[in-house]
Amino acid sequence: MLNSLFRTKKISAILSEGSDDIHGAGNLRRVLTMRDLTFFGIAAIIGAGSFSSLGAAVANGGPGVVFLFVICGIACSFTALCYSEFASRIPVAGSAYTYAYASFGELFAWIIGWALIMEYSIGNIYVAYSWSDYFTSLMHKLDIHIPEYLSCSYLEAKKNLLEKTPNAELLAAWNTAPAIGGLRIILDIPALAINILITYLVYRGIKESRNFSNAMVILKLIVVLLVIIAGGYMIFSKGLTYNWLPANEEGQHLFMPNGFSGVMSAVSGVFFAYIGFDAVSVLAEESKNPQRDLPRGMILSLIICTVVYILLSLVLTGAVAYSKFAGVGDPLAFIFEAQNLNIGWMQFLVAICAVIAMTSVLLVFQMGQPRIWMGMSRDGLLPPVFQRIHSRFKTPSFATILTGIVVGLPIIFTDKTFVLDFTSIATLFAFVLVCGGVLLIPPKQKEKGKFHLPYINGQYLFPLIILIAIIIIAIFVKGYFRDIFNFDFSGNSDYVEGRISFMDAATPKISLIVFWCAAIVLSIIAFVKKYNLIPLMGLTTCMYLLTGMTRSNWAWFIGWLILGLFIYFLYGYRNSALANKNGLKPAA
Ligand code: ALA
Repeated sequence: MLNSLFRTKKISAILSEGSDDIHGAGNLRRVLTMRDLTFFGIAAIIGAGSFSSLGAAVANGGPGVVFLFVICGIACSFTALCYSEFASRIPVAGSAYTYAYASFGELFAWIIGWALIMEYSIGNIYVAYSWSDYFTSLMHKLDIHIPEYLSCSYLEAKKNLLEKTPNAELLAAWNTAPAIGGLRIILDIPALAINILITYLVYRGIKESRNFSNAMVILKLIVVLLVIIAGGYMIFSKGLTYNWLPANEEGQHLFMPNGFSGVMSAVSGVFFAYIGFDAVSVLAEESKNPQRDLPRGMILSLIICTVVYILLSLVLTGAVAYSKFAGVGDPLAFIFEAQNLNIGWMQFLVAICAVIAMTSVLLVFQMGQPRIWMGMSRDGLLPPVFQRIHSRFKTPSFATILTGIVVGLPIIFTDKTFVLDFTSIATLFAFVLVCGGVLLIPPKQKEKGKFHLPYINGQYLFPLIILIAIIIIAIFVKGYFRDIFNFDFSGNSDYVEGRISFMDAATPKISLIVFWCAAIVLSIIAFVKKYNLIPLMGLTTCMYLLTGMTRSNWAWFIGWLILGLFIYFLYGYRNSALANKNGLKPAA
């Protein structure tokens, strides 16, 4: 049983499945170039994270949130290198799922595939909600009023009633909504409509989608740069640089007014802004030269977006006092409002751009999900219908429509914060497994024209980095290690006043203890096995970001994994193509 759970797929077998010869006319079209892939990366990365969740992140962390962008950028760069290594070896659809199949084996591959549903489909729910926010306000600027109860989710409006200072629009949605038998009709129609439109576009075919996506990326990059230039110019010309050192409760002027814990509490939002570079890897079977172009496309798009994010955070926190971003869902437009920098046309431009940017994100993720399912179906872990390819459009037809439904249905009954957290934790988890997977695959011969992950011997370097990190923290962050082992919460007002439970308060500490123990164990293994420093750093930085997740994030995520395991043992384990081939198939 154990053997069959960890059965791995040979890379040569994966490659032959993705080759044109095997699938003949049913195969996907190879039309994407490196420029297309880089554009796809940017299309997927810059979206709701920068246009929407950045507001809450800045409000929590202050200007110091820049550090979190740097940490996430570093974590994602290491991970991108690991993705690239896998993508250059296994240039077929399926992303991290396929990679895990070749390294960790079937059970982990299934777990990753299952977690990726969170990244691709559930992530798109957040983007669709944010799209709807900007679209509604854009319509408002054009004097077209969409009723509040038709532009927010039921749960969001309901949760808002419990807030100390409820949001006026959500309150209006609740109070004005028509009711049927006591049930208020509150629906986010723009979010549902954009999902249907995107599903249709993806269903129609890769070429049409690519042209649409490329045009949108150019436009959004121009507008984001305009925000940076106009905002930056105003900060210096109006002498607003003092905003970068706001006062904390004790009156000290600090770049991180709420300390590093304030910065870390923004991890879901900041990390979400980076999700997307990995989506490039699922387009392997549609790329002209996947071995060369996939890694380049991924890394290039990541570098561009990291620079953009750092500049954007600095512009936002310089233009307006960080505390004013609390509850602001359209931070890039907000800084140009009359009470702030007061540039009316920029507000309008940003709103249009946000709608465009988020449309391209939706498009890329909606294309990614069916292709992952297709890979899982080929392996027998999902029913064969998932690999059905449309005879004329050459797209995975059933899987595309199902993705539309998986994104569309929850739009009706979930809310933004929940899906944001859920997406970030699952994606980080998948990244941890990808970096770990690279450590497990055997070294390969260098080949001209192919990406090759540089080998930096981590035998001494990695333990040294961990040791230096521990020493620096012990010296400069007074009481850090004593504090993570202190479970007395009598000084925590949220706990004392009953707003959070004991486990809520204890989760960050438990996460940090687990993280440091894992880092020490990894140092020992790296020393013994002479592991490559790059995947080691990717693994460690992604694990560190996971320590910012709350108890409820973990609880939902673990619940989701258990459901996934249940489905695997019910279907995938029995129908696995690998099991059949190896004669391991359990008796029906
Ligand atoms: N990074 C993507 C976004 O921010 C998911 O919308």
